[in-house]
Amino acid sequence: MGSEPKLTLLFTRDEIEATVKKLAAEIRQDYHDKRPLLIGVLKGSFMFLADLIRLLDFPLEVEFVRLSSYGGGTETSGRIKLVQGVQTKIKDRHVLVVDDIIDTGLTTAFVLDYLKQKKPASLKLCTLTDKPARRKTPINIDYCGLTVPNKFIVGYGLDWDERFRYLPDIYVMEDED
Ligand code: PRP
Repeated sequence: MGSEPKLTLLFTRDEIEATVKKLAAEIRQDYHDKRPLLIGVLKGSFMFLADLIRLLDFPLEVEFVRLSSYGGGTETSGRIKLVQGVQTKIKDRHVLVVDDIIDTGLTTAFVLDYLKQKKPASLKLCTLTDKPARRKTPINIDYCGLTVPNKFIVGYGLDWDERFRYLPDIYVMEDED
């Protein structure tokens, strides 16, 4: 306790950029004529969403939701709360949820259920990273970037207790025992 956490590089900014380009190409193919509504899950998705939409050269709209699941530590509390819902009308829109990581899946399941109730024309999920080892509920990921090991990761939007979001690369945060 008290010492600085040790960060080990997992994905460089170049690897992240290549992944975002790959995802953008897939999304472009499916949505270029649908004027989709991309919904970023705050806060973690802000950097990924910003980079992603810069590569999408067709009409789209952007919204955000914010939930709380984690406390101050590295474990999810499992209690999901909607902190900020959508302002835009969802009914009959093609909605794409954009997240930075699917971990237990509990946050995503909550968001998808919340949006489904608003009767979108379609509802799909894009995530930059996926940590399948920790899943507690099944989640179908339509556009998936990088699979990550069962370690706590930070950087490129992902935080630990609000730290490290600004880092342009993704790191594993080693346990300090
Ligand atoms: C993280 C991340 C996902 C969610 C995934 O958000 O951005 O939205 O957890 O976890 P889960 O699959 O176990 O539900 P967090 O609650 O840490 O908030 P933040 O994005 O503001 O950092």
